[in-house]
Parts: sequence; structure tokens; C-alpha cells
Amino acid sequence: MDIISTIPELRARLAQEARIAFVPTMGNLHAGHISLVNLAQQRGNCVVSSIFVNPLQFAPNEDLASYPRTLQADCEKLQEIGCDVVFTPDETALYPQPQDVLIALPEIADQLSGAVRLGHFHGVATVVLKLFNIVRPQVAVFGQKDFQQWHIIRHMVEQLALPIEILKGETVREQDGLAMSSRNSYLKPAERMEAPRLYKALQQVVQAVQGGRHDFAAMEAQTTQTLTQLGWQVDYVAVRSANTLQTPRDHDRDLVVLSSAKLGKTRLIDNIVFAV
Ligand code: PAF
Repeated sequence: MDIISTIPELRARLAQEARIAFVPTMGNLHAGHISLVNLAQQRGNCVVSSIFVNPLQFAPNEDLASYPRTLQADCEKLQEIGCDVVFTPDETALYPQPQDVLIALPEIADQLSGAVRLGHFHGVATVVLKLFNIVRPQVAVFGQKDFQQWHIIRHMVEQLALPIEILKGETVREQDGLAMSSRNSYLKPAERMEAPRLYKALQQVVQAVQGGRHDFAAMEAQTTQTLTQLGWQVDYVAVRSANTLQTPRDHDRDLVVLSSAKLGKTRLIDNIVFAV
């Protein structure tokens, strides 16, 4: 596996590759990331993963400084599963000047997690587009856990006519249902015990909708209230169309229920895509 940290070296390494599958990450890799790399391996001849904690997608009050950085262990994991190239730029390699060209996004980027994390998706879309321009993949893989991110990237790729197929890798869960996330390591023991409840709460919403309920606002409010009573600070619980991320209309059959909520200082997100 080649570990490369500059753009010219990466471009030279990839120049002859015909079908690149790309998995962008912020490192601190867990089984969820590994499953994305495995999916990429099925779809490309050369799998490139990037590890870069992108300052542009963190608001000033967020965990940029404390975000877990485990570069050596990450590279060992990628090597073990046969990743071909890992791109590990530092901040000056990716942002040699302050990045004042940013991607403008539709309103959905300022809703749901975008309303809680101001500017987050603009930072994500900008770094992803920049990484796409550097790596020039044919395929790129994003995790379903970040459903809104996947939706926005797919929309950006479509609107900018980028010749890249965007794949969605399934959420990998701990045995008790908690979605794997680098931020799970922030949870205190009691919070870790409570954390799987978010997924269970979403499962209950799915069951209710599939059982015929359509009063989405009432269900969202009930779930928020239940979680709040159990000590969660709920950012949102939302049932949306899985295709548009807008409030479902009568004919929508593919739905997603999404939530973001904090336990103590740790913000967790999760979602379930389902059909009615
Ligand atoms: O999902 C992530 O880890 C990040 O948002 C991404 C896509 C690597 C961009 O920094």
C-alpha cells in the first residue's frame, strides 16, 4: 500500500489507473469504514482512501482539536485489508491558502444536521469536491450513517455533471444496535449503555409508519419527548422522503427517519431507510 501525503505525488501514482474507487474518511477507522473500503474493492481496480480531518466542516465550537487522530493504526488497518493507496495530506497540502471558494448548496444543507452544525455541509461538499479533483475517481463510497451527507454529495455530483458514481455503504452497528462512529469513543460508560436507544427509537417510528400511521409531526414530537425524558438533548427526529429529504408526500413510498441527539457532550446521528 502506498501512503502519500502530497497532491503531485498522488497524481503521479494514480496517472495510469483506469478505474479508481475512492473512500474519503477523517480517520479513526472502525468496521464501518472497513466495509466501505470492501465495497470500493468490489467496484474499482485501484482503491484509494483519504484520511483528513477537515477543519472547514467543523464550527468554531465543535470538536476539531479533540477529534481522534490515529493515523498509524488507520494505515495498518487499510494495509491489512488490501487498500492500494492512502492519501494523508496535512492542512497546508489541501488548503495552501485560506479556502475562500466554497460550494453553494441547496436549502436542505441548512436543515436537519445543517441547522445544528452551521456551514457543516458546505465544508464537507468543498473538501469532497477538492478530493474528487485530486483523486479523479470513477466511483466513490459514502456511509449511510451520514445519510444527509450522502444525499448532498450525490446531488452535487449530479448537478455539476461529475463523472463519478456515488455509492452508499450500509451502516455497521455494534451488537446492541449502536451505529459505529468515531465519536462513540467520547461516550462515558453510562452514556454508552444508553446510546443504542436512539436506534431503537427510530425502529419504533418505522414500525408505526409501516403499521399505517402518517402523522409524522406527532410521531417526531413523541419520540423527541421520550428521548428528552431519558436525558437526551434532541436536535431533531424527522421522517422524510428518502429521495428528496423533504417532508413525505402521499405518493412517497421510500422514506427515511433521521435523528441527531446529544448524550452529554457527544452528538450521535442515525437513520433508517424504509419502504411503505
Ligand atoms: O464522512 C466523513 O468522514 C467526512 O465528512 C468526509 C466525507 C471524509 C469529508 O471530510
